[in-house]
Amino acid sequence: MNFLELASKRTSVRQFQQRPVEQEKMDYMFKAMQVAPSAVNFQPLKFIVVSGEKMKELHACYPRNWFETAPLCIIACGDHNRSWKRSSDEKDYCDVDVAIAVTHLVLAATEQGLGTCWISNFDAQQCKLILSLPKHFEPIALIPIGYSNEKEEEQGEKVRKAMSDLVEYR
Ligand SMILES: Cc1cc2nc3c(=O)[nH]c(=O)nc-3n(C[C@H](O)[C@H](O)[C@H](O)COP(=O)(O)O)c2cc1C
Repeated sequence: MNFLELASKRTSVRQFQQRPVEQEKMDYMFKAMQVAPSAVNFQPLKFIVVSGEKMKELHACYPRNWFETAPLCIIACGDHNRSWKRSSDEKDYCDVDVAIAVTHLVLAATEQGLGTCWISNFDAQQCKLILSLPKHFEPIALIPIGYSNEKEEEQGEKVRKAMSDLVEYR
């Protein structure tokens, strides 16, 4: 599978099997996350894995039935005390760094035959309380991970804008 095939294969999965995820696959995904680039190489990242009872608790900050079907969830956090801020305008690159690392992780998961979904529409304050996160840690994305229970034909077609809308040569 070349890179374009892998990137095209990744899709949001919202129904999981109960089958547990092997530790070797977790290690592989985290290695892919670790090699991601970050602004000034500050790596303002913290990835927290929850399963079992903690996963049930986490459901409160994203109360969707499908979310509970995932055997585990990674909470991708940014550490605002360690992120790079651009000097010209103080723009904080925390989100960008976390997003790149999550992208590495979900593509590695796809390669390993696992399904993922990026979730932003959760209650971040509640999530911080459930995980007892320090003030400067921001939970940026919830990434449920597991073996997909979706049939390929149930997965919608990838709807994407035309290349001419997305790319401009000047
Ligand atoms: C930043 C971001 C936030 C997202 N938040 C949610 C979310 O809260 N809930 C959800 O079900 N899907 C969420 N998604 C998944 C998108 O809906 C999905 O990526 C998009 O519809 C394209 O479909 P695909 O991932 O299957 O290619 C999010 C995706 C991204 C990148």
